[in-house]
Amino acid sequence: MDGNGDGIGDLKGMTEKLDYLKELGVTAVWMSPVYASPNVDNGFDISDYFSIMEEFGAMEDWEAFRDGAHAREIAIIMDLVLNHSSDQHQWFKESKQSRDNPFSDYYIWRDPGKDGGEPNGWLSVFGGRAWEYAPERGQYYLHLFAKEQPDLNWDDEEARERIFDIIRFWNEKGVDGYRVDAISYLDKGMDGRADLSEPFGTTSCANLEGTHRYIREMVAKTTRPDNLMTVGEVNIRNLQDAKDYASASRGEFDMAIGFVPPIVEIKTWSPQRFKQEAKEQYEALREDGWWARFLSNHDKPRQVSLYGNDNEYWLESAKMLGCYLHTLPGTPFVYQGEELGMTNIKLPSIEEYDDIDTKNYYRTILEKGASPQEALAESQVVSRDNARTPMQWDDSENGGFSTGRPWLAVHENYKTINAAQQMRDKDSVFCFYQSLIRLRKENPVLVHGDFALCCPQEGPVIAYTRSLDGVAWLAAHNFSGQEQGLFIGSIPFYVP
Ligand code: NOJ
Ligand code: CA
Repeated sequence: MDGNGDGIGDLKGMTEKLDYLKELGVTAVWMSPVYASPNVDNGFDISDYFSIMEEFGAMEDWEAFRDGAHAREIAIIMDLVLNHSSDQHQWFKESKQSRDNPFSDYYIWRDPGKDGGEPNGWLSVFGGRAWEYAPERGQYYLHLFAKEQPDLNWDDEEARERIFDIIRFWNEKGVDGYRVDAISYLDKGMDGRADLSEPFGTTSCANLEGTHRYIREMVAKTTRPDNLMTVGEVNIRNLQDAKDYASASRGEFDMAIGFVPPIVEIKTWSPQRFKQEAKEQYEALREDGWWARFLSNHDKPRQVSLYGNDNEYWLESAKMLGCYLHTLPGTPFVYQGEELGMTNIKLPSIEEYDDIDTKNYYRTILEKGASPQEALAESQVVSRDNARTPMQWDDSENGGFSTGRPWLAVHENYKTINAAQQMRDKDSVFCFYQSLIRLRKENPVLVHGDFALCCPQEGPVIAYTRSLDGVAWLAAHNFSGQEQGLFIGSIPFYVP
């Protein structure tokens, strides 16, 4: 919500909408990064961890949001981006100057390779090589993401302590928990442990032992003493990775969010995969851990467009996905607008997209020989901007998001899909989410109940029971456009 009419959502606007969140029933808010940033990657490139991005307001606005949230018993979860900073951060500006300044080891510098080129062949997530040359030092620095996001050097003890100071600062400001960004790559393993057959730096060095060691140190020194919640955004390739990050006894994260690139998710998801993952993850963590559940976030297309049918069965599939999210074991994360069934957007030209990842994707497809129309069509499907279009509050201009020109186009369906309308309509997606959230609060079986799949065999229905103390609930979800029948034991069920 834009609170001052400049077209950009901000803290004042968010504070105005706290009653809406209370009405929905959520008990915590995860804020995407709101720190000072040149915004190359929507705030995931931080230039000052101790101040607020100007477009979003000032520290007093953040404090007003915090107080307003806490007065409504809503906890605040901040995004911690600690794998990298912005290249505009003071540390980097100094580090870049010379090899012998006090910050020289805060980032990852290497001499050129034998041929004078990059130290190794790693590719970066947002296009091109993962190394950038700095003539001042005659060396390359590593950036697993954009070149404006240099990787911090966690092997340097002093740098680590300065990073922990950032967390301590926000602990003192009254934050209740953290979502920890891109945290699987702290140990780069460049002494021969990284798997150099993988082209991307992020896949090559993922989940090495040093990373786990640094996470344990961070938790022990910063969040554990203040009893704050942590959810790590991590690279989960198998069940062992899930256990390593989210088993309670390991002293790492309370929960883990696995990152899957949108293009991979679009190509590989199926009800069958969901079923199998739900079962395996349940078993992996049930004795010693907890699950974070989400179908949407700021890095994925909208869930009703991706996993549902945002046309003929828009209402049905938006509700079904909400039911699935809230009845699985674990903590559900609802992404803004999901509770209204907001859908993907198709912007008419690449210039209208804001996301660095979308622009890079578009360029890559063009380079492979696609026509501009083909490249645009593919980018529209995977774009992270699908999820980032302004929240649709009501049917007034710009969906009630701003009186100015919004930073990213508002979806044209705001006249029919918006919060004001859905709050009045008992049959809406919003009211359904409200009920789901209330049901979880009132029924311990949904939180602590055992989980058992009812029909593990192939098919579009995901059905399971949750049971606790002699009470059992059945949840059945039909991911197809046709009615399905289901037998549980010998009892037939109809799943619309
Ligand atoms: C994961 C974040 O969710 C994404 O939005 C960001 O681009 C990368 N990490 C880099 O920080
Ligand atoms: Ca604003």
